[in-house]
Amino acid sequence: METPPRPTPPAPAGRTNLWLGGVTLLFVALAAMFAKNLWGHVEPQKPLPLVDKKFLDTTPWRKTYADLVKAKEDLSDYDCYGCHEKGKPPPIRFDDKHKIIIPKEHSNIVMGHGSHDRNDHCWNCHNEQTLVTLQARAGQDVKFDNIPALCGSCHGPTYRDWEAGAHGRISGYWDRKRGAAERLSCANCHNPHAPRIGGREPAPGPHPLRDPHPAPATAQPAH
Ligand code: HEC
Ligand code: HEC
Ligand code: HEC
Ligand code: HEC
Repeated sequence: METPPRPTPPAPAGRTNLWLGGVTLLFVALAAMFAKNLWGHVEPQKPLPLVDKKFLDTTPWRKTYADLVKAKEDLSDYDCYGCHEKGKPPPIRFDDKHKIIIPKEHSNIVMGHGSHDRNDHCWNCHNEQTLVTLQARAGQDVKFDNIPALCGSCHGPTYRDWEAGAHGRISGYWDRKRGAAERLSCANCHNPHAPRIGGREPAPGPHPLRDPHPAPATAQPAH
């Protein structure tokens, strides 16, 4: 006897829907877990702080007399004859250790030029005949807006380095056909009364793209 082949009964629609519903739920749950990153645990990158702006500032430290004139700032400190009498140079006083005494009207001035204060005498640089000008070493009259000529009369080698661009900062153009090279005045960097430049906080290295100090992934080879 032959048994007729039994047709497979069609799956009931209800069960298929249950299946699909289940699979959909599973995927939604997986998607949520991926979104929450339950497995990866990759640390999000910490924002790296940008370089402190003070290290990017290229304006010189000091304003010279010429800068004050240009910026139309207060020039009362340079109005020598607002207080002094013409033709009567103020007396220079020293204490018993031969240290110069700064009168209180000039208390903004701290003298300290050279080791052992060798160049602290006001008339080494200021002109006692006309207080409103300076005087170079051999007595030549120098205007307040020409400070390098004063400094250069005693610091010849440094002055020549500065002229050649090896001392101090040159900006502007290397290619002189395009524009002038600009030199800062000695007094943009050095306080004429106390010219030594103290130590400074070092600027940081280049800004890294990644955390420069991540936890080591593997042991470092010994050096
Ligand atoms: C606000 C007023 C005032 C101004 C402005 C002023 N001085 Fe004086 N200066 C004084 C007084 C006051 C003394 C003390 C005078 C004395 O002892 O007879 C003095 C003293 C001095 C001395 C002697 C310092 C010492 O250590 O003994 C010099 C040098 C001097 N002034 C130069 C200048 C020059 C240069 C200028 C302009 C660039 C100037 N002063 C502008 C008020 C002033
Ligand atoms: C009359 C001469 C004379 C003039 C002008 C002069 N200097 Fe000096 N300078 C000296 C002497 C002297 C020393 C000390 C050198 C030493 O102790 O070995 C010195 C030292 C220095 C130093 C080294 C730091 C220190 O204090 O020892 C600097 C920087 C300096 N001068 C800058 C200048 C600048 C900038 C000018 C112009 C505003 C200037 N000098 C004008 C004589 C002068
Ligand atoms: C090494 C040279 C030098 C010596 C020494 C010196 N000066 Fe000056 N002084 C200058 C220069 C250069 C300027 C102009 C500063 C500028 O343009 O930044 C100046 C500016 C001044 C000013 C006007 C600006 C201010 O800071 O008040 C006075 C006042 C002054 N000096 C007084 C004196 C007195 C007082 C002495 C002595 C105790 C003295 N100086 C010693 C070079 C010198
Ligand atoms: C752009 C800033 C800048 C300018 C402009 C500048 N200097 Fe200097 N100078 C320095 C620095 C920084 C040092 C080194 C710091 C120190 O040793 O005190 C120095 C050191 C010096 C020294 C002592 C060390 C040596 O033997 O060279 C003298 C002297 C000096 N400068 C003079 C001058 C004179 C003069 C001028 C102008 C003709 C001038 N500087 C212009 C920044 C400058």
